Amino acid sequence: MLISSANLADHTIHATDAPERTWAELRETGRIAWNPTGEATGFWVLTTYEQISDAYRRPAVFSSTGGMTLDSLTGDGARAATAAAGSMLVVSDPPRHTRIRRSVHESVGAHAITALRPRIAALADELVAETVDAGPFDFADVIASRLASATICALLGAPESDHSRLGRLADTAFGTSASEAHPAWHARAAANAEIFAYYGELVSARRRRPRGDATSRLVGTHRSGERLTDDEAVLNCHGLMLGGNETTRHAATAGVLMLADRPDVLRRLQDGGVADAVEEILRLAAPAAHVLRTVRRPLRFHGVDFEEGDRITLWNGSANRDTAVFERATDFDIDRANNRHLAFGLGAHYCVGAAVARMELNALFQSIATRVRLVSGGGAPTRLRSNVIRGYQEAVVELHGKGRR
Ligand code: HEM
Repeated sequence: MLISSANLADHTIHATDAPERTWAELRETGRIAWNPTGEATGFWVLTTYEQISDAYRRPAVFSSTGGMTLDSLTGDGARAATAAAGSMLVVSDPPRHTRIRRSVHESVGAHAITALRPRIAALADELVAETVDAGPFDFADVIASRLASATICALLGAPESDHSRLGRLADTAFGTSASEAHPAWHARAAANAEIFAYYGELVSARRRRPRGDATSRLVGTHRSGERLTDDEAVLNCHGLMLGGNETTRHAATAGVLMLADRPDVLRRLQDGGVADAVEEILRLAAPAAHVLRTVRRPLRFHGVDFEEGDRITLWNGSANRDTAVFERATDFDIDRANNRHLAFGLGAHYCVGAAVARMELNALFQSIATRVRLVSGGGAPTRLRSNVIRGYQEAVVELHGKGRR
């Protein structure tokens, strides 16, 4: 059995380049490796684009109900995944997943995005305008975090006065909080409970008096005639809140770092390249570091005999660096043709918020393209200590406006 050279469950190694080296070694062998953890929770590691996309496409054999990240294998994480299984999208399997997915997709679909776009574009532009030529600042905190939490809260219809509190709660609940890496489980549990209580009230309010937001649409009757229960609506508000908060924030921060000291790329952005740049940022950043699946029945898969109950991990950032699919895979190349990255996953669970994330990132990088001549880096950024989200805890940069030299 091929053994992974680094313990990918160890949060601390994700604050370094070690995972990228391990992924590259494993891709080179072309084999699926075993990651022992010293406990009963060892897992298989999938690193090539082919292994990962095949696994994403087979929800009938690779179940999501056992949890979507390694965190769900132990303690309170396991209890939380069990409680939400079958009701929250990301921890559901077909046919329940298919039913709930239709409703959630309809709620955060095209018209939600059309309604939200001007507001998010204005906020992104305001945040960029405030920081241009204002000296070095932490982009992760000042722009990325505020924009991400405001977008997801506005989508769900939470009033503006609650956005920063909800953003902080979501950070703590997800366990990769920028201010405190891996807060204690009791803090996470308390934050989760507060988010559930908040959306519980919002769901009741929107049932009584619907508005034009995603929460109102979630609790309404859907085109299929489907109607989610209150519990399902609350669980999926929570799923949207956590799914959309840290991921998009870390893509934004990684993106600005990719632009640092690259005035040539900034010029390409100004020249209509924003959408392509966003895809390339998503490919290399791949903030959803891994997803977990549980094997439902014994099967042979890419040369390995999986047993029922085995856990497999799909490392999106590794698939996105696979040279079998992406030429010069580690280069930041916004002119890359056919950028079929897996940052949003694939298949049945393909990120339901992908269009929201793209809208938000396009708005942000459009403002940067319009207002900024040069992004300069302010020293080595600090990576997050997390095997769930790959990103930066702090990234000091300076935005130089077009008016100054
Ligand atoms: C750059 C930003 C984002 C990235 C990289 C990302 C990544 C992902 C990935 C990889 C999955 C698949 C999970 C799986 O297969 O188990 C997923 C699913 C999901 N995402 Fe995102 N996401 C992003 C933004 C968002 C946003 C903005 C929202 C909310 C508006 C959101 C809500 C969700 C939900 C609810 C699911 C579960 C879908 C399902 O199971 O059918 N995500 N996301």
